[in-house]
Amino acid sequence: MAARRKLIAGNWKMNGERADGLALAGELAVRAKASAPACDMLVCPPATLIFAVGFAIAGSGIALGGQDCHAAPKGAFTGDISAEMLKDAGCSYVIVGHSERRHLRGETDADARAKVEAAWRAGLTAILCVGETKGEREAGSAVSVCCGQLAGSMPDGATPDKLVIAYEPVWAIGTGLTPTSADIEAIHKAVRAKIPEGMRILYGGSVNPKNAADILAIEDVDGGLIGGASLKAGDFWAIADACR
Ligand code: PGA
Repeated sequence: MAARRKLIAGNWKMNGERADGLALAGELAVRAKASAPACDMLVCPPATLIFAVGFAIAGSGIALGGQDCHAAPKGAFTGDISAEMLKDAGCSYVIVGHSERRHLRGETDADARAKVEAAWRAGLTAILCVGETKGEREAGSAVSVCCGQLAGSMPDGATPDKLVIAYEPVWAIGTGLTPTSADIEAIHKAVRAKIPEGMRILYGGSVNPKNAADILAIEDVDGGLIGGASLKAGDFWAIADACR
């Protein structure tokens, strides 16, 4: 079984206009062309920038992804974007079931599952997010919540090239808080037992250049889904460098 190559993915969320998005993408591309990173790298810009960022990173080896997709291939869904459209715009990945979609938009496990299936239909790799709230962690149910979300949102037929799991504790996202290494390891181990061999499990939630090396060294952590720290080329690059 080949070793799981780490993946460092940047989730820009609703940040960036054309000038800053292109500057960020351009700087990452220059760095990647100058010295190949020790991991796979992915950027997921806002939809308005996908096309332009795709040009900026062309030939750099950095992959392009969407932050969400609709489950249907096309139709009367004002404001939504299909997986097919992301693929057409140059994406190879799409994030699905992020906690900001689950909690701010009321998306369910069934919604996330349908979006993973949509991603596969379009030929994209889905990054499926799971994670417990602060209350669920304090109640001691973090493992069961994450495994429950996984069971509800991972379709049959998942393979390592079509699906990546991201463990993102809701309370750690954008807060500067992170679980202990033992807590991260426990969730990743529990998730590992429920997914096909070779599938990657990313950790996400307040990863930064200071804590990246420790987090990425935890057993069963196969990379990171990075929010805030992915908006600065130097920070994002330093996190990727921590895979060495
Ligand atoms: P953060 O976000 O790195 O800003 O905590 C991570 C995420 O939401 O994917």
